[in-house]
Amino acid sequence: LAPEASLASFWAGAARRLIRAAKTTAQLAPRSAPPTEIWSFGDGAPGPELRYRRGERLAVTLQNDLPQPTTIHWHGLRLPNAMDGVPGLTQPTVRPGETFDYDFDLTDAGTYWYHSHQNGWEQVARGLHGPLIVEESTPPDIDHDLTLVLDDWRLDREAQIAGGFGDLHDWSHAGRIGNLVTVNGDTAYSKGFKRGERVRLRLINAANARIFSFSARGLNGVLAALDGQPLAAPQAIGRLTLTPAQRADLIVDVVAEDEALLISHERDAAYVLAAFPTAGAVSARTAAPTALEPNEVPPLGPLASSRRAQLLMQGGAMGRLAEARLGDETLPIRDLARRGKVWAFNGRADPPEAPLISARLGETVLVEIINDTRWPHAMHLHGHHFRQIRDDGSTGPLRDTLFMAPGRRSTIAFVADNPGAWLLHCHMLEHAAGGMSTWVQVI
Ligand code: C2O
Ligand code: CU
Ligand code: CU
Repeated sequence: LAPEASLASFWAGAARRLIRAAKTTAQLAPRSAPPTEIWSFGDGAPGPELRYRRGERLAVTLQNDLPQPTTIHWHGLRLPNAMDGVPGLTQPTVRPGETFDYDFDLTDAGTYWYHSHQNGWEQVARGLHGPLIVEESTPPDIDHDLTLVLDDWRLDREAQIAGGFGDLHDWSHAGRIGNLVTVNGDTAYSKGFKRGERVRLRLINAANARIFSFSARGLNGVLAALDGQPLAAPQAIGRLTLTPAQRADLIVDVVAEDEALLISHERDAAYVLAAFPTAGAVSARTAAPTALEPNEVPPLGPLASSRRAQLLMQGGAMGRLAEARLGDETLPIRDLARRGKVWAFNGRADPPEAPLISARLGETVLVEIINDTRWPHAMHLHGHHFRQIRDDGSTGPLRDTLFMAPGRRSTIAFVADNPGAWLLHCHMLEHAAGGMSTWVQVI
């Protein structure tokens, strides 16, 4: 690992860090266009990479110098509920001019990220997010550890962030999809390597709603972790899909003669996400990358006797939701839409007062999720790692965000070992605000 990185991790571990949420500018569009005014947790988008070692304590003071209240949510981490950053559920919002201290132990290694959880559909789109990396006690043998934050932006002709954040068309369809894709804030991201070097790529999808599907060229290696959690058996890298908020760790050897690439595939187009030109060569390692050091996650209890809930995802364009509960009224879809609600969970278009499920500490919980809509979604549970239970009874890898294809049903299971009130929502942030949010209680 580069000495800068371990030094940064020493200081990050030793000191309380100030994160200022404020307006700034970034050169997002190509150089011929003006810089874009963004909102940031540092001086660009993404915000600063926070890097720690497993077992260290995160100590961050958020200072809000924005015109709106905000918070920080630490996505994917098992942390004390009071540190989870959800306004109204785990903390009050941090108002303009105020500060809030986040303090907790980093028990899990992996690739995580942090983002605003207040009006995320606007604040995350404006740039309020950054990567959070927790290194293993024994990191893998690599030459470079590189974080790639994928994002998209909707810019107007002056290269400024386009308005229309509450646009019901976006909300009821795929969400706010941008017209400019960036990697680490750059439309033409490039980083040079030597042929033969072994690189860990930490990919984070920080977009509000865009699903990235990509492949690697000139890079030979494995998929080593999903959502920060190591795969017991690293897998070959084929076509990888990351919904909003999902992460993937690749460990790859650079084998390209002149340039390795990450290529994004969309419906009818393929384009270069990131380029890795090669200059010079080192002798390549002969041993394939091995599994990353696992995190301690309790094994699932017997599924037959677990606590169960069902979550019906409803609404959206071309859906069949006719009416839903909002507050203590039942409203037809047209009236709901007037109030910005176009989706529902179990017939409710706002987070219910009672949790979807209330589990006793240590219980295994099973949630059957049914996507009764025409749209893909990305279901995220706070404060826990879950596994998908496949139809044949086998279990998938630990994750915190699950791709839900239109019309499909999936069951997730987790051990409710973290007390508190935890959100369960679609991470397409317009969907979450538009009705796709609920919560789980662990007591
Ligand atoms: Cu990444 Cu509820 O959030
Ligand atoms: Cu989260
Ligand atoms: Cu969704």
